[in-house]
Amino acid sequence: MSTVKITDGLLKDEVLVLGLAATNAKGGIAIESGDLAIDTKAILASLVDMGATGAADEVIKTPGTAVRMFVFTGLGKKSNSYSHETLRRAAGAASRALAGTSAATFALPSSTVENLSAVAEGAALGAYVFNQFRGSSLSEHKPGLNTIAIYSKSASRADAKAAIARAKIVADYTFLVRDLINTPPSHLTPDSFCKKLTASIKSLGGSQAGLKFRIWDEKELKAQGFGGIIGVGQGSANPPRLLHISYTPKGTPKKRFAFVGKGITFDTGGLALKPAKGMEAMKSDMSGAAAVCAATLAIAALKLDVAIETWAPLAENMPSDSATRPSDIITILGGKTIEVLNPDAEGRLVLADGLVKAQESKNKLDGIIDVATLTGAQVVALGTRTGAVMGNNEEFSSTFIRAAAISGEQFWPMPLPVELRASLDSPVADMANIGDKSGGMLVAGLFLKEFVAPDMPWLHLDIAGPAFNTASAHGYTPVGGTGIALRSLVTLVEGA
Ligand code: BES
Ligand code: MN
Ligand code: ZN
Repeated sequence: MSTVKITDGLLKDEVLVLGLAATNAKGGIAIESGDLAIDTKAILASLVDMGATGAADEVIKTPGTAVRMFVFTGLGKKSNSYSHETLRRAAGAASRALAGTSAATFALPSSTVENLSAVAEGAALGAYVFNQFRGSSLSEHKPGLNTIAIYSKSASRADAKAAIARAKIVADYTFLVRDLINTPPSHLTPDSFCKKLTASIKSLGGSQAGLKFRIWDEKELKAQGFGGIIGVGQGSANPPRLLHISYTPKGTPKKRFAFVGKGITFDTGGLALKPAKGMEAMKSDMSGAAAVCAATLAIAALKLDVAIETWAPLAENMPSDSATRPSDIITILGGKTIEVLNPDAEGRLVLADGLVKAQESKNKLDGIIDVATLTGAQVVALGTRTGAVMGNNEEFSSTFIRAAAISGEQFWPMPLPVELRASLDSPVADMANIGDKSGGMLVAGLFLKEFVAPDMPWLHLDIAGPAFNTASAHGYTPVGGTGIALRSLVTLVEGA
């Protein structure tokens, strides 16, 4: 997707996306074309003949009459006010089905600017394809929908135009997250992750845009006591890094947040080697880092007046003669010692260093959010489409969950029961890196909590399930990296 625009005109040679809704249980359907008045009686009859139902994720293409092609996308049950997420998904499903098409106009219910924004976002997010590594087969794979026009009679209104521009920025940086996740570890190491991000920072204008970065290499990390990052990264020929990105808005920031993202560019499990089946999905173990870094850039691109300090501890978790052994003891930044009983519980080790470093900030923080593909237990608890929210501050948590709901991302609160903490006790060090297997997601959260000052509002997002889609595409979500957490973080900051 390279262009998203808003229009109140329709060209003859156009691909036109329209909504289709179910009007009753007996197979009745209705066309929903938003602000566009269109005579659809004849088409409606043939859609019924074709068995169209208007269900979500149903996309039907028909030859056009006044235009070149109609694309009907399911909205589910007919309503006077479709939810923003219904619109986002319907637009996204159509957009996905239009790969290979150069341009399309979306006429979907968009009576409010929020609706318009949802349609634009869904259409843009659905236009993603990842063909970077196709060689001889490239020509067999269609490029994503290139030009998206959103039909609205409010096309000339400033707030409508701003909503479209925002949708484009959100989609661009979601694409960055997805690209980083989908890029294989042969091409994405801790070092190249930093290089890709710094290139994106520069193309956004760097310090002109309020963005600064700093990178710690393995020597500095070791010398300065980042025992978690070093301990996880020492088994790999691709040495670890710590990437820091800061965004400072013009004028006085309303608030200041720190983000910390798990950046394991590949998780083999280390000496606790994972089974071969499914290990390939562990190229997505840097989804948290990708989400927080790209969210920071999106926040800068949107010129939001909140300061952000982002930390991405990056390492590759490999088995080798230099890898951390079960029973090794490492020292996290700040001095806490950890007995590494399972080198596959590596995310919490790099995040511990990141959380401690984030709190060294000379500026007073209003909150810290860490984002991580942390536990298989998260997937067991909430499935593959819903992320978990844990933390130490009810109000911060509710604010985040509200932002997530607005953005259309599924997040659900989870507790950090104090009685599980003792399972992390170690007979030889301050703490072990694993505890009770039951409630494994919560145990991991309790481990991280040990590295956060009690009075610092903190949230931990476990996105192990929803970060990487190994099933099939749906709505605006492709197979592979999804980009989850970016929209919630941006929406949270917009509401700050
Ligand atoms: N990266 C994994 C968690 C994961 C699992 C992410 C499935 C996405 C999908 C993490 O580093 C891990 O291996 N966690 C272990 C922790 C255990 C050893 C306490 C797990 O969940 O099995
Ligand atoms: Mn692991
Ligand atoms: Zn991991």
